[in-house]
Amino acid sequence: MDSRPPESPPLDFRRIGSLPPYVFATIDRLKLEARRRGEDIIDLGFGNPDIPSPPVAVEKLREAALNPRNHRYSSSRGIPNLRKAVADRYQRRFGVELDPETEVITTIGAKEGLAHLMWVLVQPGDTALVPEPSYPIHIYAASIAGADIHRISVLGTEGDFYQHLTDTVTNTWPRPRVLVISFPHNPTTTTVELPFFERLVDFARAHGLFLVHDFAYADISFDGYEPPSLLQVPGAKDVGVELYTLTKGHSMAGWRVGFVVGNSHVISALAKIKSYLDYGTFQPIQIASIVALNDADEYIGKVNDTYRGRRDALIEGLNRVGWEVVAPKGTMFVWAGLPEGYEEMGSLDFAVHLLEKGRVAVSPGVGFGPSGEGHVRFALVENEHRIRQAVRGIRQVLE
Ligand SMILES: Cc1ncc(COP(=O)(O)O)c(C=O)c1O
Repeated sequence: MDSRPPESPPLDFRRIGSLPPYVFATIDRLKLEARRRGEDIIDLGFGNPDIPSPPVAVEKLREAALNPRNHRYSSSRGIPNLRKAVADRYQRRFGVELDPETEVITTIGAKEGLAHLMWVLVQPGDTALVPEPSYPIHIYAASIAGADIHRISVLGTEGDFYQHLTDTVTNTWPRPRVLVISFPHNPTTTTVELPFFERLVDFARAHGLFLVHDFAYADISFDGYEPPSLLQVPGAKDVGVELYTLTKGHSMAGWRVGFVVGNSHVISALAKIKSYLDYGTFQPIQIASIVALNDADEYIGKVNDTYRGRRDALIEGLNRVGWEVVAPKGTMFVWAGLPEGYEEMGSLDFAVHLLEKGRVAVSPGVGFGPSGEGHVRFALVENEHRIRQAVRGIRQVLE
C-alpha cells in the first residue's frame, strides 16, 4: 500500500480568480473600527434601504408563515399569482402587456436574476458589453459566466454613448452577444427617456445584440420624472428582457424578490437552469409579495417622498458648504464630483479622509470602475436629521 500522504487538492478557484478584491472593503473596515472605538459614523456608503417594508406585506407574511402548507418547496419560477401580480403592475405602471405564464419569472432579487441570466446568455468565447462605471454585478455576472467584457461609458451624452457602442460592436469579433444597461443608473444617477430605448432596440435588432435592462430604480424618481421601461418600446421583447425588483421602490431588500420579464425564449431558458439550482423563494414571501405588488402603490409614493426629502437635505447642505452637486432625478443616491481642492487626492483617499475627519462613510467612485474616479457616491439611507449632521461633519473637513 502507498504510505505517502495524500496530495492537497488543487485549490486554485479558477472561476473566481479573476474577481478583484472588494474595493469598498477599506471603507467598511475603517467604519467598523471607528464604531468599535465608540464613534458615531453616519453611513451613506452601502445602498441598503432603511425604510421599513410595507406593513400590509409584513402582515401577510406573518399570516402565510403560520400556514404549514406554505412550508414546503415552492415553485422555482414563482407561484402563478405572483407572476400575474407583476404583469398587472407592468400594465398599470407602464402600459406594458406581459404573459405571466411565459414572460415573467421570479428571481432571488435582481442580483441573482442577473447572475443566472448570464449563465444562459453567454459562455467562454462570448463577449458582453457592460456599463462603465458600473454596479459591480453588471460586470461580474457575465465575467463569472466566462464571457469577455467590454465596458461602454454612460458618462457622456447620448451621442457619446452610441458612438462608443457602435465602435465597440463593429470592432469586436465575434460580435458581442449581450448589452447590459441600467437606468436610472447606479452609481451615476444618469436617467434616460423612452426615445433612448427606442434607438437601442433598433440598434440591438440591427447588430444581433440581446438587451438586458436592470430596472432596479423603476420606482424611485423625483420632480415629475418617470423612468421608462425598456419594454414600452414596441418589439422590445424580441431583443430583450428587464429586471424588476421589490428591493428599492417597495423597500423589501432583505426579502430577495425580483423578476425577469420580457423575451419568452430567454425566460424559458432561465426557468430551465433555475429548476436545477433552486426550489423557489419561501412561499410566504411570495404570497406577501403579491400583496406588495397589488396594494402598495401609495406606500411607494411615501418612499419617494422620503428619499426626495433626504436628497434635498443633502444637496442643499453640500451646496451651502461650497460643494456644488447636482440633484438626481432618480435612484437613492447622490453622485458627487470631489470638491474643489481635493481632486488630486483620489476618491478612495478622499472617502477615507471624510470617514476619519468628518465621520461620514461614502463609497469611493473608483470602486465602480476607473471612470468613477474623481467622484464619491452618497446613499440616502439615513434620515434627514442624520444627513444634516453628516453635512456638519463634511463642513468641518472642507474648512
Ligand atoms: C442597479 C442595481 N441592480 C440591482 C440591485 C440589487 O437588487 P436586488 O436586491 O433585487 O438583488 C441594486 C442594489 O443596489 C442595484 O443598484
